[in-house]
Amino acid sequence: MNKKILITGGAGFIGSHVVREMVTKYPHYEIYNLDALTYAGNLANLKDIEDLPNYHFVKGDITDAILVESLFEKYAFDGVIHLAAESHVDRSIEDPLAFVNTNIVGTVTLLNAARKYWDGNYTGKCFYHISTDEVYGSLGESGFFTETTAYDPHSPYSASKASSDHLVRAYHDTYGLPVVISNCSNNYGPNQFPEKLIPLFINNIVQKRSLPVYGKGLNVRDWLYVVDHARAIDLIFHKGEVSETYNIGGFNEWSNIDLIRLMCRLMDEKLGRESGSSEKLITYVKDRAGHDLRYAIDSTKLKEELGWTPSLQFEEGLSKTIDWYLDNNDWMEEVTSGAYQAYYEKYYGDR
Ligand code: NAD
Ligand code: DAU
Repeated sequence: MNKKILITGGAGFIGSHVVREMVTKYPHYEIYNLDALTYAGNLANLKDIEDLPNYHFVKGDITDAILVESLFEKYAFDGVIHLAAESHVDRSIEDPLAFVNTNIVGTVTLLNAARKYWDGNYTGKCFYHISTDEVYGSLGESGFFTETTAYDPHSPYSASKASSDHLVRAYHDTYGLPVVISNCSNNYGPNQFPEKLIPLFINNIVQKRSLPVYGKGLNVRDWLYVVDHARAIDLIFHKGEVSETYNIGGFNEWSNIDLIRLMCRLMDEKLGRESGSSEKLITYVKDRAGHDLRYAIDSTKLKEELGWTPSLQFEEGLSKTIDWYLDNNDWMEEVTSGAYQAYYEKYYGDR
């Protein structure tokens, strides 16, 4: 069946992999990528598929109700896959309002348009909201987040995502809008903006810059290869039950310091540097405010109900990821020129 799908935030890290998955796997679908091209959005992420006839780009802001409504009117979307967001925790600590605007107001703007244009004709329609495991808060040393874990966000970022999740559910319960939500753990892979741990540290190791480890480096994250997340999103969009939530994660926990040491070892080998030389760049800096100790996702429901499992072992995925950044130095240079330098000085200058 043909579908017209609105993907928001498709020029960002995860969104670009979702757009690629959808336009190549479903040539009979029309895919519309709505993205404001903030500092995190980059059309170079989509270079390989931008000329495909079923791919369409619209530059615009999800908080712009007139634009969003005009797109629903013009293209009569059957589905929305909503990824556009402000996504970096450290930036949310500096500027919470930007996160409230995009993550909360932007999500409601999209929900309103879907409600207005679908107008109760919900057969074959789906509003799919992409969320994060950070809404569940922080775990102690044991246990996992499940789909029924109570929300307990701690950063302005996670609070804004939690708020948007609640609003999506409220539009189902109040207006019957056919919604589905997934909450995923930390993604890694090609095209991630180098403000996030893995690409930031790859770039710093290449540049022989210090590696700023927050606190003692003992916080734990559950890492998933971004293409496996995109595959899960495809599956949930097509097979997920309306009003359900699915957790997505790799059962792949790493303390930051163990992950950083592994990256240093792999990069010494790949760059032909003396073993142990990159580790010397590790510098312990002031901790992130409200830093969540541990995230770990239980993705049993997604496996048992929809048959999804991650395809890559972590060391293989991390090695592929490092190779991608080393082979795509132009991409890194482009995104770290200009405003990036000011960002870096501001966030790391006085730590
Ligand atoms: P990203 O920051 O790399 O990309 C966000 C994209 O949204 C960019 O292309 C940006 O230009 C666009 N955007 C931002 N504000 C916009 C606005 N007002 N209007 C239109 N477009 C706008 O983010 P990401 O890491 O790819 O995350 C995508 C989604 O997945 C987010 O909703 C995030 O909360 C969620 N998520 C991310 C992770 C992760 O590890 N990165 C894990 C779980 C969930
Ligand atoms: O869990 C999913 C979330 O993962 C997503 O919702 C977010 O959008 C995404 O940014 C990510 O959030 P984190 O805060 O976990 O990711 P980040 O890469 O910023 O940090 C990972 C860990 O590394 C975290 O414990 C903080 C630490 N860190 C990070 C940076 C940038 C450092 O020690 N030093 C750093 O310079």
